[in-house]
Amino acid sequence: MSIRELYRFLFSTGKRQTKLSLFITLILLVISVSTFSNELKLKITKHYLNIPVGYRARMKLMEIKINGKVHREFPVQLAEDSVNYWIYIDVKEFNGKTVALTSPASSKSLNRIYQDDQINGSDSLYKEKNRPQFHFTVKRGWSNDVNGPIFYKNQYHLFWQSFPFGLSWNTGFMYWGHAVSKDLLHWQELPHALMLDSLGSPWSGSAVIDRNNDGGWGKDALVLYYTAFDRVSGKQVQCIAYSTDDAKTFKRFGGNPVIDSNWEMQTTDTRDPHVFWHEPSKHWVMVLLEKDGLSFYNSSDMKKWEKQSHFKGLWECPDFFELPVDGDNQNKKWVLHGGSPEYFIGTFDGVKFTPESGRLRYCDENKDDPGDVLYAAQSFENMPDSRRIQMAWGRTEHPGMPFTQMMLFPTEFTLKKTADGIRLLANPISEIEKLHAKGYEWRSITPKRANEELVKIKPVPLHIKMEFNLDPGHNLRLCYNGDEFLNLTPDDIQKGGNTIEILVDKTVTEIFINGGKRYIVRNLNKQRNDDGLQFSSEKYGPDIHHLEVFEMNSIWN
Ligand code: FRU
Repeated sequence: MSIRELYRFLFSTGKRQTKLSLFITLILLVISVSTFSNELKLKITKHYLNIPVGYRARMKLMEIKINGKVHREFPVQLAEDSVNYWIYIDVKEFNGKTVALTSPASSKSLNRIYQDDQINGSDSLYKEKNRPQFHFTVKRGWSNDVNGPIFYKNQYHLFWQSFPFGLSWNTGFMYWGHAVSKDLLHWQELPHALMLDSLGSPWSGSAVIDRNNDGGWGKDALVLYYTAFDRVSGKQVQCIAYSTDDAKTFKRFGGNPVIDSNWEMQTTDTRDPHVFWHEPSKHWVMVLLEKDGLSFYNSSDMKKWEKQSHFKGLWECPDFFELPVDGDNQNKKWVLHGGSPEYFIGTFDGVKFTPESGRLRYCDENKDDPGDVLYAAQSFENMPDSRRIQMAWGRTEHPGMPFTQMMLFPTEFTLKKTADGIRLLANPISEIEKLHAKGYEWRSITPKRANEELVKIKPVPLHIKMEFNLDPGHNLRLCYNGDEFLNLTPDDIQKGGNTIEILVDKTVTEIFINGGKRYIVRNLNKQRNDDGLQFSSEKYGPDIHHLEVFEMNSIWN
């Protein structure tokens, strides 16, 4: 709409005075934005642009233009005075070109942006004080949901929701982060797999291998399903991107979106497609959040999808897989879970999930702060062995760091018959032992004596295993650097063995009780000394039969 058209519209009907002041305000706004928008021109010769961020600076939109055409657009708190941390943008694709960075920021702050082949802070990268040492965290910025974890072409691929420009969740500008690993322990962060396109910001989804070229993008193409979120209309539609170069780069499918059910469902909550191949019925299945539950769709060509059924009771980020009960391949059950660690066990015939359990949980809720620390977990597709391994977003904070949130340690899921029925257990993957450095072991030791020994161990990342008894009236209370993260009564430690396994990594602890029957994740955010691990109830504490403590090697070496 031109200014003249706007003027005509404003003066067509209604109160003249109100409209006139509205018109003047609008004009002033347009003038101020164009006047205060500054520009920095750079001929790109290096890999990264390093951008200074200030906690107190206002979030402002920045554009990267080439010959006037906008190639990228993102919000950033460009530091006006003091710099709190640096973010970076990979600009390799613009090599040799002159780009203009424009933002309604001062030219002084724009001029501090510089290009380099290293990211600012690369000397201390992964060695920062509050950086977890054996959990995956992003180099810079915000991360949430795990997306499409898959074993593909001899390595594990991990994708996630990434906002690389700051420490908050900015849903209109999410990217797909990407990292690879040979062993599920050591990860290498790669350039983003997906950035924004004309349909919006790529939200959560999943990855599959198209073995028979059903989609027509090539045999064994890696196909990503994701939700495109339009930040203006709020619309969420389902889309495809694929890679035919071993997951180095991803192209958008020209026929996107493949599902747009906003109108039919009378909602804009349609997201997080989880796709897999269902061998018995020989078709592709998509589980999708729609309005008030999870819908099941089928497809034979990966592009045309037909809705089959709808299951109410779980919300966003679905994962869905089949597991043997007690390792018995003749007795398999399907597990369906959503974003929170709530799940149902049941059967699946290719079109409909029929629950056989009530709503269950595989991880405790956070006790201090309502909501889950563990959220939006996904399990690896196409594992080279028969394990079902999941990784989850850990809603944790790492004070003073140039990144926030994390991925929790990979856990193996199993289904076990218990006195209460079949349950989903989560345990750290056995590979964890490869990270053990120095180890300590004690048998039949009192908590008091254990504390005297434990205080000698430096407060480093630890893997702890313990067998114990807890008498009535006694508690298992543990703290790390003065932060009490666990206080269990004999009732909390359900019958059937008294073992506990604990991972402590800088800002987070993960606790697995009785072989994964109970899984707890806690932030370690009240640390006040450097005593390391200590039992905080010595007299009325546990009767320790066996205690093993391993110092952990960093995965970033
Ligand atoms: C869950 C979620 C998803 C969505 C994504 C956006 O944490 O809200 O439903 O796809 O985050 O980042």
